[in-house]
Amino acid sequence: MEVVIVPDAAAGGELIAEAMAQLLRRKPDALLGVATGSTPLPIYQALTAKVHSGAVDASRARIAQLDEYVGLPAEHPESYRSVLRREVLEPLGVGMDAFLGPDGTAEDIQAACAAYDRALAEAGGVDLQLLGIGTDGHIGFNEPCSSLASRTRIKTLTEQTRVDNARFFEGEIEQVPHHVITQGIGTILEARHLVLLATGEGKADAVAATVEGPVAAVCPASALQLHPHATVVVDEAAAAKLK
Ligand code: F6R
Repeated sequence: MEVVIVPDAAAGGELIAEAMAQLLRRKPDALLGVATGSTPLPIYQALTAKVHSGAVDASRARIAQLDEYVGLPAEHPESYRSVLRREVLEPLGVGMDAFLGPDGTAEDIQAACAAYDRALAEAGGVDLQLLGIGTDGHIGFNEPCSSLASRTRIKTLTEQTRVDNARFFEGEIEQVPHHVITQGIGTILEARHLVLLATGEGKADAVAATVEGPVAAVCPASALQLHPHATVVVDEAAAAKLK
């Protein structure tokens, strides 16, 4: 695992966007795994700036989703599909025909999860998977004690995560879905390159457990230690508890 400490979130975004740009120059139709949440926004902004300046062409990139709410119609503004369309695909000039994601509205959610794992494999696998991290060490929606071998599956959101996400639903927790589909940790580990960005002091404990703790389900992100090509980019605040 490579750990890179950068001064701030903007520098982390720029560093990772440049790694994505280099991948796209080498492999224009690379499959990029993307996360939602606040942390990756500087990456998307920096990559968009590179596309707009002509430094890289992302029009042939393919985009794969990490997780999705269950039961929200795809066109709901807060479905992660909609969020990613707004924040990633449209700014990069990538069409929805190049988007891969699980069907959170399927009648048979288990079948939809298995179908998504198959679709990722049939697409050739994820070339670069972006990850954020929860304060409890979660990646995707794999909360502590998720199996490190888990595949894409349905998970129940903790009350805390629903409270945290209510900000996207006009502050109304009743509107936040109870369930999500998330790529499993085993699924995530199949990507060829994992890039985790963590910023802010609130992530410092989780970063220390990820990088210096034992590989253990109590900190799902510690599974990155098992991956042959994992890069953890942290700002100085998030690096504060590294030895
Ligand atoms: C979202 C996801 C989550 C977030 C994590 C951190 O797709 O996978 O694991 O990355 O909850 O969220 P932020 O970046 O908002 O602190």
